[in-house]
Amino acid sequence: MFMKNCWYAAAYSGELEGGSPLGRTLLNEPVVMYRTSDGTAVALEDRCCHRHLPLSLGTVIGDRVQCGYHGLEFDAKGQCIAVPGQSRVPPGATIRSWPLVERHGFLWIWMGDPGAADESLIPDWWWTGDPGWGFNPGPLLHIRCNYELVTDNLLDLSHLGYVHKQTLGNDAIVDFPVKTERADNMVRMTRWIVDRPAPPLFQKAGGFDGMVDRWQIVESRPPGHTIVYAGCGPTGTGTPEGPREYDEGIHIRALNAPTPETDTSTFYFYGHVWDFRLDDAAWKQEMYDGFLQTFLEDVAILEAQQQSIDRDPGRGWIDLAVDAPSLAARRQLEARIGLEAENGTGRA
Ligand code: FES
Ligand SMILES: [Fe+2]
Repeated sequence: MFMKNCWYAAAYSGELEGGSPLGRTLLNEPVVMYRTSDGTAVALEDRCCHRHLPLSLGTVIGDRVQCGYHGLEFDAKGQCIAVPGQSRVPPGATIRSWPLVERHGFLWIWMGDPGAADESLIPDWWWTGDPGWGFNPGPLLHIRCNYELVTDNLLDLSHLGYVHKQTLGNDAIVDFPVKTERADNMVRMTRWIVDRPAPPLFQKAGGFDGMVDRWQIVESRPPGHTIVYAGCGPTGTGTPEGPREYDEGIHIRALNAPTPETDTSTFYFYGHVWDFRLDDAAWKQEMYDGFLQTFLEDVAILEAQQQSIDRDPGRGWIDLAVDAPSLAARRQLEARIGLEAENGTGRA
């Protein structure tokens, strides 16, 4: 069962260019997205009410999408408004529509009660449009695993030293404990790696030749919107017990929105922003490649993990100290899903 009354990333903004409809299964529902003539993005059920051909195989005509089988046309609300060969549109010729909002370079869909769709609940990833920050979206990764495994992975960065040796990891990480904070609707994991060499990617980014203090602060909100605040500054330029991040040094945020396709597959939407070397196109590409390589390393782990789980789904697992944040996030999500089942809104 999925949390419904929340926003999920459904597409990158750039995916809807070119005038073609885009079909995608989200939360086990077939969804088609397209842009109307003024550029507004809409989301409808990807199933024609006539003989159920996916509308994503059809054509966008102005503000409408036309079915590719017998030519029924639907407006942006999912109402059939034209039937070739007859003047009368039969009663009940409608398909579902969902609120879809474009923000921060992503399209966000609300698949729960449409009356409860509150745009202020879209993750506030303002950096993506701020001139003080660089932004690389995506690309979209399809992962054959349950979406909660992605959030587990992001909230437990002890894997960096094993899975991401080439980019982010070094052995120093596990020497430093994590702090877990639970707030209303949010879990925060904080780890400071103090007075250690910078990892390879950070060395390239900031040219640090001495020791650095490095922070990893991960904030996750149901259903899995997770920001990783990462960066480092020269040791001695701040105190880890002080402000959240040092002013001096490099600052990166990895923005993550894993959206369930099915119970065992996920569309992993992500982006990253950074506040250094902003005019350096080669560096922008390097960041893009570095993140992609890193996340593909995670994909291999997550898919192997899901396969292993599927082989024996009833088998329990053990928990470690580093699992505290991901267990807390799982509990918060479970509680929201439970509330939705009870009162329909997910609100306590
Ligand atoms: S299936 Fe869509 S018009 Fe017939
Ligand atoms: Fe990872």
